[in-house]
Amino acid sequence: MLASGGPKYAPKTHAESGCYVEATASGKAILLGEHAVLYGCEALAIPLHTVQMRVTAQRLGEHTQNQETGNSSRFYLGASQLPEHAAGVIDDGFAALGIPKYPVHIQGNSDIKVGSGLGSSATLSVITLKALNQLSGNSELKAEQLATLGRQLENRFHGNSSGLDPSVVAYNQPLLYSITEGPQPIEVCMPPKGGWHFALIDSQVRSSTYSMVLQARPFFTTAADGAQRLEKFKAVVRQGFEALTHGNVSLLAEAFHKNLTLLTEVGVVSEALHHLVHQANQLGCLASKVTGAGGGGFVIALLPPENPEQVLQKLQEHFKKHQVIHVSV
Ligand code: MEV
Repeated sequence: MLASGGPKYAPKTHAESGCYVEATASGKAILLGEHAVLYGCEALAIPLHTVQMRVTAQRLGEHTQNQETGNSSRFYLGASQLPEHAAGVIDDGFAALGIPKYPVHIQGNSDIKVGSGLGSSATLSVITLKALNQLSGNSELKAEQLATLGRQLENRFHGNSSGLDPSVVAYNQPLLYSITEGPQPIEVCMPPKGGWHFALIDSQVRSSTYSMVLQARPFFTTAADGAQRLEKFKAVVRQGFEALTHGNVSLLAEAFHKNLTLLTEVGVVSEALHHLVHQANQLGCLASKVTGAGGGGFVIALLPPENPEQVLQKLQEHFKKHQVIHVSV
């Protein structure tokens, strides 16, 4: 629940006068530090402005309420209705916002595939909060509130979120994040020969964040070298931070390589993902790594700032059957 001073339940809503509300939220890509962030380390992530979820939400009449379940809210993405567990994000959203629940219909579409590592659960959590808040006639939530409440909602999907993903989606800007310090927006400095360009390459394998977190956990918590491993993750993220804030491309490439090695050690990088990374680097990417929970999902590849389009084209030609997304910061 929000502390006093947060949005309050407003009895008169836009929806009561027959209006829809609209909300959008971006996906995210973790540059460095996934998994270790759950054990207190910092991580770096960027929003994906070209990979989005968009919804419209409408308040339904009380008569639509299901007598047995006490609820008739529905959430559709494209033609598919979200399964009950995922649609429970609506009730969680009402509770987090401190708004007495009423039936709603949320309908939208998403560029973010579930289990792809691009933040589907964080984006769903944040967009639900935005839509319900607006539908209830409250003033816009601040990024900080959205991030905190988004983390609560995301727990429905993977148990104990670090809060990194909902923070990036809520702030919609590059962040350095840790559980203790929270989100810190960063001023990215452009490399001298161009901008920061990345390619996201879909491995076409889907994995659950929850199970990947369980799989990696012993390597941080019970392994004899767990503490040492966390120190290595910290150093890699610091190196990446230096790189991004000083426009140093080769330093970020080095951090990507090191992060991939560390993620491999904790068991979230399959042979198939290594193969994809290798191919991307052979085609001219400066460095590539898994992004997000791993096990599948997308690989993020750093493109050379002087000819990103040329390398991107080679990737698109080579990975014809895979989705390849250009991201710039
Ligand atoms: C998932 O995108 C990132 C993880 O670090 C989990 C989390 O931070 O909540 C694996």
